[in-house]
Amino acid sequence: MKRTVIRGTGRYIPERLVTNQDLTQWMDTSDEWIKQRTGIEQRYWVKEEGGVGASDLGLEASKIALDRAGWKPEDLDLIIFATLSPDIFFPGSGCLLQHKLGLETTPALDIRQQCTGFIYGMATADAYIRSNMAKRILFVGSEVHSTGIDISTRGRDVAVLFGDGAGAVCLEGIDTDEDIGILTTVLHSQGKLADGLMLELPASRLNPRISVDIMNEARQFPKMNGQIIFKHAVRRLPEVTKETLEKANLSIDDIDLIIPHQANLRINQAFQNTMNLPDEKIFNNIQRYGNTTAGSIPIALDEVIEMNLVNKKNYTILFVAFGAGLTWGGVVYRFA
Ligand code: ACO
Repeated sequence: MKRTVIRGTGRYIPERLVTNQDLTQWMDTSDEWIKQRTGIEQRYWVKEEGGVGASDLGLEASKIALDRAGWKPEDLDLIIFATLSPDIFFPGSGCLLQHKLGLETTPALDIRQQCTGFIYGMATADAYIRSNMAKRILFVGSEVHSTGIDISTRGRDVAVLFGDGAGAVCLEGIDTDEDIGILTTVLHSQGKLADGLMLELPASRLNPRISVDIMNEARQFPKMNGQIIFKHAVRRLPEVTKETLEKANLSIDDIDLIIPHQANLRINQAFQNTMNLPDEKIFNNIQRYGNTTAGSIPIALDEVIEMNLVNKKNYTILFVAFGAGLTWGGVVYRFA
């Protein structure tokens, strides 16, 4: 049977450390408020003068993942790039990364799906592999939020949450009788609640797409209804966990570790309480990185592998995510 297995992972976090205390120079906030509401202590941003896009962070993460897989860029059949902060409006960051990897005509597919980008990316990669459309795929989740958020007091509800960073995963199709690799994927979306968390500009529904008047209304910055997002996240994460486990014919006891999207520590703690999970069964690193959206799960996975937590045969991870769209989903992955 055809299965999708991980051959290498990598992460890249830019160097500019921004603590909660640092944020107080631009906006009325406090370390205490941010930590209490979100668990975030610090995040990393790209250099202030610009010139670094999502594909640049993705390139560094990709080089590490390719190296660990023992692959050259030429070995890839497909690049899947997940980001809500593309380098430019079009073409997608996948094409830009393809060129930066020194490739000539390798296909590149951009997806968005925000915080659920990793889950949609794994489902897409698995479908390509199981249908023999690709054998070796590079998935990249990468975000540069810092150049697109309102760091004044007006934008503080959103600005304190997000960090920049990228994670990359090399995926390969193998023929095996073992029950390993991506075991199952579940995807959902609910566009009815799209305006719960959105970035409007540049908008094709507006003519012109951007104008000084519109920018004076701050519509070039993300807008969030934090309470709506919180309410739906704490409902959908347990729900999709159950659905994904049922689809995989597994129980929670079969899962060694859950890696949830890192949106907010309070959301993940509520999820943990609802599911009655011990601390060692759920991985969080949002305290150090903030919410890196499509980058968050692959960054966490890379850390988990580096920390040698994947330390026994058939170690099984459940990935779950919820984010703008709304979108949510789950993936079960079993190591060999
Ligand atoms: N610092 C200080 N005060 C702030 C800040 C800030 N950064 N942001 C908002 N406030 C103020 C508000 O202005 C408000 O003041 P007021 O009472 O005078 O009007 C007060 O704090 C309370 O604001 P609320 O929005 O009610 O605060 P709440 O307790 O709901 O927390 C938060 C806000 C943290 C955003 C919460 O709603 C939440 O966690 N939501 C989920 C958001 C999230 O995780 N989004 C990302 C996930 S989706 C994705 O990853 C794409």
